[in-house]
Amino acid sequence: MLPPRIPQPSLLQLHQWVYRPIQFMEESARRYGESFMMQFPNAPPFLLTSNPEVIRQVFTGKPEDLYVGPVNRVMESMVGKNSLLLLDDQEHIRERRMMTPPFHGERMLAYGLSMRESANRVIDRWTVGKPFTLHEQFQDITLDIILKTVFGLTQGETFEHFRELFIRMLNLGSHNAVLLMSALLPPERMLKLLSVGREPIHLGPVKADLSRFLPWAQLSRLMKEVDTYLYAEMDRRRAEGVEKREDVLSMLMQARDEDGQPMSDQALRDEAITLLAAGHETTATTLSWALHRVLQHPDVEARLREELRQVAGTEPLAPEQVSRLEYLDATLKETLRLLPVAPAVGRVLQRPMKMGEWELPAGMAVMPCVYLTQRRPDLWPEPERFNPERFLGKRSSPYEYFPFGGGARRCIGMAFATYEMRIIFAELLRRVKLRSATRAETRVGRRGVTLAPEGGVLVVVESRS
Ligand code: HEM
Repeated sequence: MLPPRIPQPSLLQLHQWVYRPIQFMEESARRYGESFMMQFPNAPPFLLTSNPEVIRQVFTGKPEDLYVGPVNRVMESMVGKNSLLLLDDQEHIRERRMMTPPFHGERMLAYGLSMRESANRVIDRWTVGKPFTLHEQFQDITLDIILKTVFGLTQGETFEHFRELFIRMLNLGSHNAVLLMSALLPPERMLKLLSVGREPIHLGPVKADLSRFLPWAQLSRLMKEVDTYLYAEMDRRRAEGVEKREDVLSMLMQARDEDGQPMSDQALRDEAITLLAAGHETTATTLSWALHRVLQHPDVEARLREELRQVAGTEPLAPEQVSRLEYLDATLKETLRLLPVAPAVGRVLQRPMKMGEWELPAGMAVMPCVYLTQRRPDLWPEPERFNPERFLGKRSSPYEYFPFGGGARRCIGMAFATYEMRIIFAELLRRVKLRSATRAETRVGRRGVTLAPEGGVLVVVESRS
């Protein structure tokens, strides 16, 4: 037997998933319960579930039975087919092993000062009394951090040039039109569509280049430019000696698999873009939500400030003090419980499997729903209430709380992101007092595959310390 199926046409379901994801998930859960089937055009049906037992089976299943690649195919045109997000089974295990060392908890200390510096560069620009959108500022900080720590770029002309390129590329990549196209077209067709935009398009007597009106054509050209740069940069590093460098890309260039083989240049390019795409927007969005909630809860803000004062006094937070900010950690966890950037994670069954009470056929995608599970009233009392205390001194079940996904595919950047967010948040608390500059309720909107605050959280600096 299969779970209840949403009876709407597949195109309408896709439209709702893209344009009103929260209402769609909530209404469907109210109507059909904790597990229900959804259907998008050109895709196998999939099961969205908030049942912890099914989620446990998904996260503890064997890699050869549960593939992620088909679920992430919408991102292939940007991240490339060698991306960790798209690889499965043995290829994924091999690549993940090579990519893990730069993301180990201890490595973070080496990036701490650079992260703090990036936060300060942006905070320095804020003027007392002048409203601004927080999300953009956080994007600026997290992009800066990725460029320095992952790509190993240092401030200067090239840095600014590539910052500009990456911003445009990421904005186009998360354009809803590109997302819809990627979901509707099989990957080979999408790649073909992208290649259409690589050269200017002229129709008959029309002199203007028509491709500049197509978001995917613009994306394609930008990616070409980014790729050219990345390959040249890798060659340059090899010539100059990559061994001395500490950034993630340089470490990946030196990584070897069990047979002593390095990653190919194409794989290095794909993984670098993957880390940029997966690590920049996610972190900026979570920080925006966290600050948005904290500004609505003066008691939480006061407690955060007190904790910071006890740990670091009035000095900037030292990288090794980060682990002592337990209340800040709980605040970020609570933010990710209520407002997870990825609403669901997915796996496609490679053979028929029994999950919970359901007999599921091969080819079906099972999607543990982060958003609905983390708001179940039986697991999370008063689920709508923002209450960081619920995480203090407690470990939650990985099948009831999983904003970073789970099992062998859990986010490789989790330690990086949680460390980075604590550094940025602490620096912000230490240096400024913000207040919200809007009365309107901030709604959840989609940015690419993530859920972000619509309008970006308008704030104003009340005072500086
Ligand atoms: C608050 C910040 C972040 C959140 C909420 C987040 C969330 C996630 C989620 C939900 C997944 C899918 C896991 C699954 O399918 O089970 C994922 C995968 C991934 N994330 Fe993150 N992420 C964040 C930051 C980062 C950062 C900073 C990086 C790297 C710099 C990163 C790199 C990746 C990669 C490479 C994967 C694919 C892992 C694999 O398939 O083996 N993420 N992330």
